[in-house]
Amino acid sequence: MLLPVLLLMFPMLLSAHYYQYDRRQDSKEENEISVEEDPPFRLQDGDAYLTVPQLVWKYGYEIEIHEVQTEDGYLLDLYRIPGRRAASGQPAQRPYRNAPVFLMHSLLSSCADWVLMGPGRALAYLLADAGYDVWMGNARGTRYSRKHIHLDPDRSREFWNFSWHEIGLYDVPALIDHVLSVTGQPRLHYAGFSQGTMVLFVLLSERPEYNAKLIDMQAISPSVYMYRLEGRIVRTFVQLADPLVAALDAAGRHEILPNNRFIAPLVKIVCPDANVTVCRELLYDVAGKNPPQVDDKMLRIFLGHFPAGASLRQLHHFSQIIRTSRFAKYSPLRTTRSALLAAPAPLYNLTLATIPVVVYYGLNDHVVNFRDALQLADEVPNLAAVHQIADRRFTHSDFILAKNSARLLNSILLQELDQYDGASSANATH
Ligand SMILES: *[C@@H]1O[C@H](CO)[C@@H](O)[C@H](O)[C@H]1NC(C)=O
Ligand SMILES: *[C@@H]1O[C@H](CO)[C@@H](O)[C@H](O)[C@H]1NC(C)=O
Ligand SMILES: *[C@@H]1O[C@H](CO)[C@@H](O)[C@H](O)[C@H]1NC(C)=O
Repeated sequence: MLLPVLLLMFPMLLSAHYYQYDRRQDSKEENEISVEEDPPFRLQDGDAYLTVPQLVWKYGYEIEIHEVQTEDGYLLDLYRIPGRRAASGQPAQRPYRNAPVFLMHSLLSSCADWVLMGPGRALAYLLADAGYDVWMGNARGTRYSRKHIHLDPDRSREFWNFSWHEIGLYDVPALIDHVLSVTGQPRLHYAGFSQGTMVLFVLLSERPEYNAKLIDMQAISPSVYMYRLEGRIVRTFVQLADPLVAALDAAGRHEILPNNRFIAPLVKIVCPDANVTVCRELLYDVAGKNPPQVDDKMLRIFLGHFPAGASLRQLHHFSQIIRTSRFAKYSPLRTTRSALLAAPAPLYNLTLATIPVVVYYGLNDHVVNFRDALQLADEVPNLAAVHQIADRRFTHSDFILAKNSARLLNSILLQELDQYDGASSANATH
């Protein structure tokens, strides 16, 4: 797995001079947005090595671990935060809102997306504090869902024969159905970040009956259109995708960037601590550059949880929608160009997603360019609201790591949910 990492880093190393820090411009823009400084993160370096359930317990919340089987045999971890523990030093609190909220993470990540920033900031804790019954899914192939009833992820190539298409088609509905059956509720709120949004559009396009199980969708930096993507490292990868995928496929490498003992030392070499230039520049190129929002300790902890694994085919599928600018199904590797031109892969049908959709985007997001997010907003049939994050330099990673993302994003998202949940919070019983 060294190969893709080194390949990804290569163009960046060549052009590191491009990133000379321009203090004049930075301070000017900082004044323009005048973000209040939040207190430093109350996190510990050891958080990098804990699992998500361990983190949730450590920070004073209850945690339930559920395992859900998909119809094609994958076993997925689904975590529930059913409230705050008395031991947390704050009063114990149980959910009082009727509708559960289900959270789905981004590419190469896991449900750590929703908890890493800690209580008072991370979305999962803020939702639990606001009385929601919080459920966090993990897609197949990630560190928490690297399991199957009979396929062995270490030996079987068939285990890794999936893309985000299968995550949307099989994982998301299995997880949603499990939440609804355990809670006895007819519908839930859905919030997704990046890939976590596109998998729901896949589901609603292929199985539109799932609209009836959802109240609304909070689409955080939705990665349906990505062709205006700015990161040069990722662009380079996309250009090289076909030969690279063929080479890795031939070498029997179908799992990409797993969260394991092999990657941790590599991260230690490249990023011994997060203020090492190469490490930050990597982040800035891939996600966007917004130094005032980056906390070194937070970044180090993040690197213990990211990457969390994906399949080769999943990345290949991403490269196809970036190159073709079409939100379409996967085209197998060896399809010839002429065959593709004659019969391009079928599109997903966004007009079948009839639930209210709220879109959040950042102006400096290198992964989902704001124009890509706005194009999606234009095309969904039931757009409820669009929120541009007030910090004009907000990047892709800022949505889950930024010093101020509780105020800039999560507080707005809670207000949005309140609108849909007003009725059920009014007849709260406990
Ligand atoms: C992978 O899955 C596709 C269907 O999605 C199937 O057509 C193909 O034969 C599978 N390949 C392998 C190697 O299992
Ligand atoms: C970052 O680097 C500076 C010097 O370059 C050092 O003084 C500081 O301790 C480093 N920060 C961390 C968190 O390691
Ligand atoms: C998408 O779904 C709508 C509603 O069923 C249908 O009218 C339309 O033809 C579909 N579009 C495509 C491209 O399949």
